[in-house]
Amino acid sequence: MTTTRIESRTQVAVVGAGPAGLMLSHLLARAGIGSVAVDLRSRREIEETHRAGILEQGSVDLLVETGVSDRVHRDGYRHDGIELAFGGAGHRIDFRGLAGASTQLYPQTDVFIDLADARARDGGDVRFGVTDVAVGELRSDKPVLRFTDDGGTGHEIRADFVVGADGSRSLCRNEVPETERTQYFREYPFAWFGILTEAPPSAPELIYNHSPRGFALISQRTETLQRMYFQCDPATDPADWSDDRIWDELQSRVGANGYRLAEGPIVSRSVLPFRSFVQEPMHHGRLVLAGDAAHTVPPTGAKGLNLALADVRVLAEELERAIAAGDTAPLSTYSERALSRVWKAQHFSYWMTTMLHTLPDATPFDVRRQEGELASVTGSTAGSTFLAEAYTGWPGAR
Ligand code: PHB
Repeated sequence: MTTTRIESRTQVAVVGAGPAGLMLSHLLARAGIGSVAVDLRSRREIEETHRAGILEQGSVDLLVETGVSDRVHRDGYRHDGIELAFGGAGHRIDFRGLAGASTQLYPQTDVFIDLADARARDGGDVRFGVTDVAVGELRSDKPVLRFTDDGGTGHEIRADFVVGADGSRSLCRNEVPETERTQYFREYPFAWFGILTEAPPSAPELIYNHSPRGFALISQRTETLQRMYFQCDPATDPADWSDDRIWDELQSRVGANGYRLAEGPIVSRSVLPFRSFVQEPMHHGRLVLAGDAAHTVPPTGAKGLNLALADVRVLAEELERAIAAGDTAPLSTYSERALSRVWKAQHFSYWMTTMLHTLPDATPFDVRRQEGELASVTGSTAGSTFLAEAYTGWPGAR
């Protein structure tokens, strides 16, 4: 039981020390603004969570230019396009040629490690493994963050602003009264079965594979470790799937379009839920939301982490203004600026998802229409450019 409570102050209290929370506290520190970031998870738990692996050009630039990571270039792989596979063949979308941009294959866990190391190197105040997190007095001038640290000591931190960067199960977003927020949801009737396999790469770039048996995504991690996914029923129990059964399913889906995968032992398997979600506005009083706490996208198109980084880049600027002016108006500017990108990404993720997956109740018309849609995108420079610009992060939109 907590008997003491240490009281302190900071300028920005950040709930959540994943990529969004850590990048924000890093950017604030560069602007001379103090922050404390807390997370319920241990550093180890966050490191061991497998997430998506594709960074937009703007995300790479942010990591490199602000001194977080040079490893992203060294250990990451530049991808200049993707394959859209359907109707028996692959069709390359040339990002460089169409949008003048690339993406970088660099897993989210590595982004997190780089950020956590950078915060430790710069003396940032980050507390992992805390409990009893609560925020309050959000409409006052001095909102508060309360938590118990990993040694059992209670803390009460007064701040100028509180940021909820606490992920898709955010506690902060529920602090906004129902009458002052709108929540937008969309559920999908499928999920992704994700694996890591110790095998060589099967292709130099990602393959987004549409097939009558369902969608599959062939991604990579390193020369010896690969990441792959296939569309499944959301109720699927990964334990029911043997390695052989997984390989048969993957091979038959990509085989429909002429690919063959290099197989190896499967070292991790999990089922990832699919949903689209947005909460508007992304602020309330002196509370601001960033990343998954405010919005979730389905993983098709790998926008989740990129959106979180884009949020906090804008948020750091607007918090700097808010602190300089002693005013909350920049928070609504943040919300508007962030939401314009969020809704573009919502559309893109929804569009990629519905274009590529097989709907359980699809009619023959739906199936043929979907093939027509894929042919329209790959068969037209305008269509492919739309995809390339969105995938690489809307070059010039920053
Ligand atoms: C991944 O490599 O984990 C990945 C890549 C692209 C996506 C989703 C996930 O669209």
